[in-house]
Amino acid sequence: MKIFAAPSLLACDIMNLASEIRRAEAAGADILHLDIMDGVYVPNMSFGFGFVKAVSSFSKLPADVHMMTVCPGKYIDSLKDAGAWGVTVHHDIAPRDEIIKILSDIRKNGMRASVALRPAFPASDIEPFLPYIDMALVMTVEPGFGGQRFMPDMLEKISEIRRMAPSLDIQVDGGITCETASLCAAAGANVFVAGTSLFKSDDMALETAKMKKAAEDARKY
Ligand code: DX5
Ligand code: ZN
Repeated sequence: MKIFAAPSLLACDIMNLASEIRRAEAAGADILHLDIMDGVYVPNMSFGFGFVKAVSSFSKLPADVHMMTVCPGKYIDSLKDAGAWGVTVHHDIAPRDEIIKILSDIRKNGMRASVALRPAFPASDIEPFLPYIDMALVMTVEPGFGGQRFMPDMLEKISEIRRMAPSLDIQVDGGITCETASLCAAAGANVFVAGTSLFKSDDMALETAKMKKAAEDARKY
């Protein structure tokens, strides 16, 4: 599995969005992670499709949208128009059949589909969606805010999903640093979302390189 660094724009300086994106590109980012929050699924709001479109038009990096919203299925066209490369939805926002329909719609529209599990849900919840996804997202904090502390209890969940799906991209999101990326890589994760640890560092290129190296060194898959 290839290791990917995905800086989360939630932690960037939005007054300087263009230069922050150039900073992430120059630092060796592989993917840009964009968190859309509706204030209902999570107790916070972030940005919308206009922001995603501005970013995807400006950068060649893939725009991966993490939908922390109750009705992501309503917005597949908007996400496509906004230039999203991938879309992640949380599996607890609707019954299983509806989630499968949303994931299929995402793929039909040429985007990569992914399912996210909040910390409370077990690895086995991902199983029914495996034929419909390109990536699983294991939340390593409660979704809604950047800058939270990594939850080590999530490591076993990553291992279980890796055993279930040996070639699936497994993304981790929340409290990811060099140290926690190393733990997650050993458990089987290969896509590392990091907001605070990368954008708030003085040397984003050094931090990104260190995080990727820590993951490479620790990986067992
Ligand atoms: C939180 C978001 C994350 C957030 C991560 O709900 O999904 O993508 O930006 O931020 P850090 O890396 O600061 O924990
Ligand atoms: Zn996220």
